[in-house]
Amino acid sequence: MATVIHDIFEMQRTGDTLRSSGRRIGLVPTMGALHDGHLSLVRIARERADIVVTTIFVNPTQFGRGEDFDRYPRDLANDVALASAAGTDIVFAPESAAMYPPAYRTYVHVEELTAILEGAVRPGHFRGVTTVVAKLFLVTKPHVAVFGQKDAQQVVVIRRMVHDLNFDIDIVVAPIVRERDGLAMSSRNRYLTPEQRREATVMHRSLRLAEELLRDGERNAAAVRTRMEALITGHSSGVVDYISIADADSLREVELCSPGENLLISLAVRFGTTRLIDNIPITL
Ligand code: PAJ
Repeated sequence: MATVIHDIFEMQRTGDTLRSSGRRIGLVPTMGALHDGHLSLVRIARERADIVVTTIFVNPTQFGRGEDFDRYPRDLANDVALASAAGTDIVFAPESAAMYPPAYRTYVHVEELTAILEGAVRPGHFRGVTTVVAKLFLVTKPHVAVFGQKDAQQVVVIRRMVHDLNFDIDIVVAPIVRERDGLAMSSRNRYLTPEQRREATVMHRSLRLAEELLRDGERNAAAVRTRMEALITGHSSGVVDYISIADADSLREVELCSPGENLLISLAVRFGTTRLIDNIPITL
Protein backbone atom coordinates (compact mmCIF):
# COMPACT_ATOMS: atom_id res chain seq x y z
CA MET A 1 0.00 0.00 0.00
CA ALA A 2 1.13 3.52 -0.76
CA THR A 3 2.15 5.81 2.08
CA VAL A 4 -0.50 8.48 2.61
CA ILE A 5 0.77 11.96 3.45
CA HIS A 6 -1.67 14.72 4.41
CA ASP A 7 0.79 17.30 5.74
CA ILE A 8 2.31 19.79 3.27
CA PHE A 9 5.63 20.15 5.11
CA GLU A 10 6.02 16.40 5.49
CA MET A 11 5.47 16.03 1.73
CA GLN A 12 8.09 18.70 1.02
CA ARG A 13 10.64 17.05 3.32
CA THR A 14 9.92 13.68 1.71
CA GLY A 15 10.38 15.18 -1.77
CA ASP A 16 13.69 16.75 -0.72
CA THR A 17 14.97 13.51 0.78
CA LEU A 18 14.02 11.50 -2.31
CA ARG A 19 15.66 14.03 -4.62
CA SER A 20 18.89 14.18 -2.64
CA SER A 21 19.10 10.39 -2.68
CA GLY A 22 19.00 10.57 -6.50
CA ARG A 23 15.47 9.29 -6.94
CA ARG A 24 13.40 10.57 -9.87
CA ILE A 25 9.94 11.71 -8.71
CA GLY A 26 6.89 11.34 -10.98
CA LEU A 27 3.73 13.27 -10.15
CA VAL A 28 0.13 12.45 -11.08
CA PRO A 29 -2.22 15.22 -9.92
CA THR A 30 -5.89 14.17 -9.55
CA MET A 31 -9.06 15.13 -7.76
CA GLY A 32 -9.72 11.51 -6.76
CA ALA A 33 -12.73 9.37 -7.75
CA LEU A 34 -10.09 7.43 -9.64
CA HIS A 35 -10.95 5.44 -12.76
CA ASP A 36 -8.86 3.68 -15.40
CA GLY A 37 -8.06 7.01 -17.08
CA HIS A 38 -6.32 8.26 -13.95
CA LEU A 39 -4.67 4.90 -13.38
CA SER A 40 -3.18 4.93 -16.89
CA LEU A 41 -1.39 8.15 -15.85
CA VAL A 42 0.00 6.40 -12.77
CA ARG A 43 1.31 3.57 -14.95
CA ILE A 44 2.99 6.04 -17.30
CA ALA A 45 4.57 7.85 -14.33
CA ARG A 46 5.73 4.45 -13.03
CA GLU A 47 7.66 3.88 -16.26
CA ARG A 48 9.33 7.28 -16.11
CA ALA A 49 10.16 7.72 -12.46
CA ASP A 50 11.51 5.83 -9.44
CA ILE A 51 8.89 7.16 -7.05
CA VAL A 52 5.31 7.91 -8.08
CA VAL A 53 3.39 10.52 -6.09
CA THR A 54 -0.35 10.65 -6.82
CA THR A 55 -2.13 13.66 -5.39
CA ILE A 56 -5.80 13.55 -4.44
CA PHE A 57 -7.28 16.96 -3.79
CA VAL A 58 -10.67 18.29 -4.84
CA ASN A 59 -9.45 21.80 -5.52
CA PRO A 60 -12.07 24.36 -4.49
CA THR A 61 -10.54 27.25 -6.47
CA GLN A 62 -11.17 25.63 -9.86
CA PHE A 63 -14.92 25.15 -9.34
CA GLY A 64 -17.28 27.99 -10.23
CA ARG A 65 -20.41 28.91 -8.29
CA GLY A 66 -23.15 26.41 -9.00
CA GLU A 67 -20.66 23.78 -10.19
CA ASP A 68 -20.33 20.35 -8.58
CA PHE A 69 -17.69 21.03 -5.87
CA ASP A 70 -19.99 19.90 -3.03
CA ARG A 71 -21.23 16.77 -4.73
CA TYR A 72 -17.89 15.83 -6.36
CA PRO A 73 -17.34 12.14 -5.41
CA ARG A 74 -14.86 11.64 -2.54
CA ASP A 75 -13.63 8.22 -1.34
CA LEU A 76 -10.02 8.44 -0.16
CA ALA A 77 -9.71 4.83 1.09
CA ASN A 78 -10.85 3.40 -2.23
CA ASP A 79 -8.66 5.84 -4.19
CA VAL A 80 -5.59 4.90 -2.13
CA ALA A 81 -6.22 1.21 -2.85
CA LEU A 82 -6.62 1.83 -6.61
CA ALA A 83 -3.65 4.22 -6.83
CA SER A 84 -1.46 1.75 -4.92
CA ALA A 85 -2.41 -1.19 -7.14
CA ALA A 86 -1.49 0.87 -10.22
CA GLY A 87 1.99 1.61 -8.83
CA THR A 88 1.72 4.71 -6.63
CA ASP A 89 4.29 4.95 -3.83
CA ILE A 90 2.96 8.04 -2.09
CA VAL A 91 -0.56 9.48 -2.03
CA PHE A 92 -0.52 13.16 -1.12
CA ALA A 93 -3.96 14.25 0.07
CA PRO A 94 -3.78 17.68 1.71
CA GLU A 95 -6.59 19.39 3.61
CA SER A 96 -8.26 22.30 1.89
CA ALA A 97 -7.68 24.52 4.93
CA ALA A 98 -3.94 23.82 4.72
CA MET A 99 -3.73 24.52 0.97
CA TYR A 100 -5.85 27.67 1.25
CA PRO A 101 -5.68 29.11 4.78
CA PRO A 102 -7.81 32.22 5.50
CA ALA A 103 -4.92 34.62 4.72
CA TYR A 104 -4.32 32.99 1.27
CA ARG A 105 -4.02 35.62 -1.52
CA THR A 106 -1.78 34.25 -4.33
CA TYR A 107 -2.98 33.00 -7.72
CA VAL A 108 -1.25 31.97 -10.95
CA HIS A 109 -2.98 33.23 -14.08
CA VAL A 110 -2.11 32.25 -17.66
CA GLU A 111 -3.46 34.87 -20.04
CA GLU A 112 -5.44 34.44 -23.28
CA LEU A 113 -5.28 30.64 -23.47
CA THR A 114 -7.58 30.53 -20.46
CA ALA A 115 -10.20 32.95 -21.81
CA ILE A 116 -11.47 30.65 -24.57
CA LEU A 117 -13.27 27.28 -24.80
CA GLU A 118 -13.56 25.86 -21.26
CA GLY A 119 -12.34 29.16 -19.85
CA ALA A 120 -15.12 31.09 -21.59
CA VAL A 121 -17.80 28.84 -20.11
CA ARG A 122 -16.08 28.41 -16.72
CA PRO A 123 -14.57 31.78 -15.76
CA GLY A 124 -11.82 31.42 -13.16
CA HIS A 125 -11.52 27.66 -13.69
CA PHE A 126 -8.01 27.68 -15.12
CA ARG A 127 -6.80 30.21 -12.55
CA GLY A 128 -7.70 27.61 -9.94
CA VAL A 129 -6.06 24.81 -11.94
CA THR A 130 -2.75 26.62 -12.55
CA THR A 131 -2.64 27.83 -8.95
CA VAL A 132 -3.12 24.38 -7.47
CA VAL A 133 -0.82 22.67 -9.98
CA ALA A 134 1.94 25.21 -9.23
CA LYS A 135 1.46 24.55 -5.52
CA LEU A 136 1.50 20.78 -6.04
CA PHE A 137 4.73 21.13 -8.05
CA LEU A 138 6.34 23.13 -5.24
CA VAL A 139 5.16 20.73 -2.57
CA THR A 140 5.87 17.35 -4.22
CA LYS A 141 9.03 18.44 -6.12
CA PRO A 142 8.61 16.18 -9.16
CA HIS A 143 11.03 15.69 -12.05
CA VAL A 144 8.17 14.64 -14.32
CA ALA A 145 4.39 15.19 -14.17
CA VAL A 146 1.74 13.31 -16.13
CA PHE A 147 -1.51 14.87 -17.38
CA GLY A 148 -4.31 13.44 -19.53
CA GLN A 149 -5.16 14.45 -23.09
CA LYS A 150 -8.80 14.22 -21.89
CA ASP A 151 -8.37 17.80 -20.61
CA ALA A 152 -6.57 19.06 -23.71
CA GLN A 153 -6.84 22.77 -22.91
CA GLN A 154 -5.57 22.11 -19.38
CA VAL A 155 -2.46 20.52 -20.93
CA VAL A 156 -1.86 23.55 -23.17
CA VAL A 157 -2.31 25.93 -20.24
CA ILE A 158 -0.05 23.93 -17.90
CA ARG A 159 2.66 23.63 -20.53
CA ARG A 160 2.52 27.42 -20.95
CA MET A 161 2.79 27.95 -17.19
CA VAL A 162 5.70 25.48 -16.87
CA HIS A 163 7.54 27.25 -19.65
CA ASP A 164 6.75 30.79 -18.53
CA LEU A 165 7.58 30.21 -14.86
CA ASN A 166 10.66 28.07 -15.62
CA PHE A 167 9.47 25.03 -13.70
CA ASP A 168 12.17 22.41 -14.26
CA ILE A 169 9.62 19.63 -14.80
CA ASP A 170 8.96 17.38 -17.82
CA ILE A 171 5.29 17.32 -18.80
CA VAL A 172 4.05 14.02 -20.21
CA VAL A 173 0.62 13.71 -21.85
CA ALA A 174 -1.32 10.44 -21.66
CA PRO A 175 -3.88 9.40 -24.30
CA ILE A 176 -7.61 9.41 -23.49
CA VAL A 177 -8.87 6.16 -21.95
CA ARG A 178 -12.40 5.33 -23.15
CA GLU A 179 -15.22 3.01 -22.20
CA ARG A 180 -15.88 0.18 -24.65
CA ASP A 181 -18.53 2.26 -26.45
CA GLY A 182 -16.16 5.19 -26.91
CA LEU A 183 -17.29 7.48 -24.07
CA ALA A 184 -14.21 9.09 -22.51
CA MET A 185 -13.84 7.99 -18.88
CA SER A 186 -14.69 10.77 -16.46
CA SER A 187 -15.55 11.03 -12.78
CA ARG A 188 -18.63 12.95 -13.92
CA ASN A 189 -20.04 10.09 -16.05
CA ARG A 190 -21.59 8.68 -12.86
CA TYR A 191 -23.98 11.67 -12.76
CA LEU A 192 -25.61 10.53 -16.04
CA THR A 193 -28.98 8.74 -16.07
CA PRO A 194 -28.90 5.41 -17.97
CA GLU A 195 -30.60 7.16 -20.91
CA GLN A 196 -28.06 10.03 -20.92
CA ARG A 197 -25.24 7.51 -20.55
CA ARG A 198 -26.36 5.82 -23.77
CA GLU A 199 -26.75 9.17 -25.54
CA ALA A 200 -23.35 10.45 -24.42
CA THR A 201 -21.61 8.15 -26.93
CA VAL A 202 -22.55 10.73 -29.61
CA MET A 203 -19.63 12.84 -28.43
CA HIS A 204 -16.99 10.37 -29.53
CA ARG A 205 -19.03 9.47 -32.61
CA SER A 206 -19.06 13.15 -33.63
CA LEU A 207 -15.29 13.36 -33.19
CA ARG A 208 -14.81 10.29 -35.35
CA LEU A 209 -17.12 11.78 -37.96
CA ALA A 210 -14.99 14.95 -37.97
CA GLU A 211 -11.83 12.92 -38.37
CA GLU A 212 -13.37 10.99 -41.26
CA LEU A 213 -14.60 14.15 -43.02
CA LEU A 214 -11.17 15.77 -42.74
CA ARG A 215 -9.40 12.63 -43.93
CA ASP A 216 -11.80 12.49 -46.89
CA GLY A 217 -10.71 15.97 -47.91
CA GLU A 218 -13.15 18.37 -46.23
CA ARG A 219 -11.14 21.50 -45.39
CA ASN A 220 -13.84 23.86 -44.19
CA ALA A 221 -13.95 23.84 -40.38
CA ALA A 222 -17.45 25.33 -40.22
CA ALA A 223 -18.81 22.54 -42.43
CA VAL A 224 -17.25 19.92 -40.14
CA ARG A 225 -18.65 21.61 -37.02
CA THR A 226 -22.13 21.72 -38.58
CA ARG A 227 -22.06 17.99 -39.32
CA MET A 228 -20.87 17.24 -35.78
CA GLU A 229 -23.62 19.36 -34.23
CA ALA A 230 -26.26 17.75 -36.46
CA LEU A 231 -25.14 14.30 -35.34
CA ILE A 232 -25.28 15.27 -31.66
CA THR A 233 -28.62 17.08 -31.71
CA GLY A 234 -30.15 14.49 -34.04
CA HIS A 235 -29.24 11.53 -31.84
CA SER A 236 -29.37 12.82 -28.28
CA SER A 237 -30.85 15.33 -25.86
CA GLY A 238 -27.34 16.82 -25.51
CA VAL A 239 -26.95 20.60 -25.66
CA VAL A 240 -23.72 21.67 -27.33
CA ASP A 241 -21.69 24.25 -25.36
CA TYR A 242 -19.05 24.50 -28.06
CA ILE A 243 -17.45 22.59 -30.91
CA SER A 244 -13.96 23.78 -31.74
CA ILE A 245 -11.49 23.03 -34.49
CA ALA A 246 -8.34 24.80 -33.46
CA ASP A 247 -4.60 24.86 -33.83
CA ALA A 248 -3.40 22.34 -31.24
CA ASP A 249 -0.77 24.64 -29.74
CA SER A 250 -2.29 28.11 -29.84
CA LEU A 251 -5.92 26.88 -29.57
CA ARG A 252 -6.83 29.49 -32.21
CA GLU A 253 -9.86 28.48 -34.26
CA VAL A 254 -9.06 27.58 -37.86
CA GLU A 255 -11.32 28.30 -40.82
CA LEU A 256 -9.54 26.17 -43.36
CA CYS A 257 -7.65 23.07 -42.26
CA SER A 258 -4.33 22.80 -44.03
CA PRO A 259 -2.22 19.66 -44.51
CA GLY A 260 0.49 19.15 -41.91
CA GLU A 261 -1.29 21.29 -39.33
CA ASN A 262 -1.73 19.87 -35.84
CA LEU A 263 -5.39 20.33 -35.02
CA LEU A 264 -7.40 19.80 -31.88
CA ILE A 265 -11.08 19.04 -32.34
CA SER A 266 -12.82 19.50 -29.02
CA LEU A 267 -16.33 19.81 -27.70
CA ALA A 268 -18.39 20.26 -24.56
CA VAL A 269 -21.94 18.93 -24.32
CA ARG A 270 -24.51 19.13 -21.52
CA PHE A 271 -26.71 16.16 -20.77
CA GLY A 272 -29.21 17.56 -18.27
CA THR A 273 -27.07 19.16 -15.57
CA THR A 274 -23.99 17.09 -16.45
CA ARG A 275 -21.40 18.71 -18.64
CA LEU A 276 -18.94 16.46 -20.48
CA ILE A 277 -15.89 17.26 -22.61
CA ASP A 278 -13.99 15.23 -25.18
CA ASN A 279 -11.48 15.82 -27.97
CA ILE A 280 -9.35 14.26 -30.64
CA PRO A 281 -5.97 15.55 -31.79
CA ILE A 282 -5.43 15.15 -35.53
CA THR A 283 -2.67 15.91 -37.99
CA LEU A 284 -3.85 16.03 -41.58
P1 PAJ B 1 -9.05 15.12 -12.65
O1 PAJ B 1 -10.27 15.51 -13.39
O2 PAJ B 1 -9.19 14.23 -11.45
O3 PAJ B 1 -8.05 14.45 -13.66
C1 PAJ B 1 -6.77 14.11 -13.25
C2 PAJ B 1 -5.95 13.75 -14.47
O4 PAJ B 1 -6.50 12.60 -15.09
C3 PAJ B 1 -5.97 14.87 -15.53
O5 PAJ B 1 -4.66 15.04 -16.06
C4 PAJ B 1 -6.95 14.34 -16.55
O6 PAJ B 1 -6.73 14.85 -17.86
C5 PAJ B 1 -6.67 12.85 -16.47
N1 PAJ B 1 -7.80 12.08 -17.00
C6 PAJ B 1 -9.10 12.15 -16.63
N2 PAJ B 1 -9.87 11.32 -17.37
C7 PAJ B 1 -9.03 10.71 -18.25
C8 PAJ B 1 -9.20 9.75 -19.30
N3 PAJ B 1 -10.40 9.23 -19.60
N4 PAJ B 1 -8.11 9.35 -19.99
C9 PAJ B 1 -6.87 9.87 -19.70
N5 PAJ B 1 -6.65 10.77 -18.72
C10 PAJ B 1 -7.70 11.20 -18.01
O7 PAJ B 1 -7.71 17.38 -14.10
C11 PAJ B 1 -7.85 17.47 -12.89
O8 PAJ B 1 -8.30 16.44 -12.11
C12 PAJ B 1 -7.50 18.74 -12.11
O9 PAJ B 1 -7.75 19.85 -12.92
C13 PAJ B 1 -6.06 18.75 -11.57
C14 PAJ B 1 -5.03 18.75 -12.70
C15 PAJ B 1 -5.82 17.56 -10.64
C16 PAJ B 1 -5.86 20.06 -10.74
O10 PAJ B 1 -6.76 20.12 -9.69
